[in-house]
Amino acid sequence: MEKILNWGLLSTARINRALINPLNASERTRLLAVASRSQVSADEYAREWKIPRAYGSYEALLEDPEIDVIYNSLPNHLHAEWTARALQAGKHVLCEKPMGLSLGEMDEMAKTARETGKVLAEAFMYRHHDQTLKAKELVDSGVLGRIQLIKGAFTFTLEREGNYRWMSDMGGGSIWDVGCYPISFGRTLVGAEPLEVFGWQVTGRGGSDDSFIGQMKFKEGIHMQFDCGFKSPARSMMEIVGSEGILNIPNPFKPGSHNEIYLTRNGETETIKVPGRELYLGEVEDMCDTVLLGSPQRIPLEDSRKNVAVILALLESARTGKIVIV
Ligand SMILES: NC(=O)c1ccc[n+]([C@@H]2O[C@H](COP(=O)([O-])OP(=O)(O)OC[C@H]3O[C@@H](n4cnc5c(N)ncnc54)[C@H](OP(=O)(O)O)[C@@H]3O)[C@@H](O)[C@H]2O)c1
Repeated sequence: MEKILNWGLLSTARINRALINPLNASERTRLLAVASRSQVSADEYAREWKIPRAYGSYEALLEDPEIDVIYNSLPNHLHAEWTARALQAGKHVLCEKPMGLSLGEMDEMAKTARETGKVLAEAFMYRHHDQTLKAKELVDSGVLGRIQLIKGAFTFTLEREGNYRWMSDMGGGSIWDVGCYPISFGRTLVGAEPLEVFGWQVTGRGGSDDSFIGQMKFKEGIHMQFDCGFKSPARSMMEIVGSEGILNIPNPFKPGSHNEIYLTRNGETETIKVPGRELYLGEVEDMCDTVLLGSPQRIPLEDSRKNVAVILALLESARTGKIVIV
């Protein structure tokens, strides 16, 4: 029988809820433990979600010899440290996006994964979804002609007062939180890195960007524009404009089981229905495939590093008011 991977949740973060169903649904995973900085909240959380083991420190979770995979859902500034500690403790790690906040952090984590022989993957769930794969397939098929412009947006109203997303020293800011999605989607569709970028940000009280507007110039006349932010209603889209057609994706980052994308050519719009499995199951199954079967991970670490490099270049551009070569 195939081995079942025991998972441990590193913190009681809100996003854990998205992983709990897939971890319970997959035949190759078992949600075995949760850790919190406080034993009381770990116990409460474990009771609420029927998780067998509850630890009152992150170290205690990493010391549990039966845990195979750690899901790192800590605030962004703690990803690198605790991912490295989990890898060194002999665990595979699925780390939330953005995996790191600097290229130094990304390189250090990749090095630790290499040295320990453990799998490390970024939890960019939308990348595993059928809708994303379909969009990539359509762009690659040439049905849009020569790609010229990609537009993307991801905004919402952030109401969590005191949340790390407002604080620059905790990896806050809308570009790290949601801008990373259109940037990642655009890079994935083009299949190459931007050559240069330019960005503007609106800086909030915590020192990070409350909203960000960015432009990216790829090879061969392909350009991208995106915006992201915490202070407008929920909004997300991707539009890919080619010489022969336009692809509109109204719900690119959190697709469900019934999705529609729209392909317009010669003045006619075709609705393409894309069924999809549960959004967060893909990253869990991908982790299982990599750990248990040795399959290549869908999002290689080099890809995660490149997304971080583009975000850093955009932030530098916003700071300096200059175009930045990536
Ligand atoms: N892929 C997605 O769809 C998605 C969606 C949302 C968020 N995320 C990512 O998931 C991560 C967590 O986001 P979230 O909104 O779920 O976080 P959150 O609810 O704010 O929770 C973060 C958890 O980290 C722990 N923690 C440790 N040190 C902390 C500190 N100094 N300040 C605050 N919390 C601290 C806390 O758990 P304990 O008290 O139990 O120790 C806290 O519950 C982020 O990296 C974010 O980018 C991804």
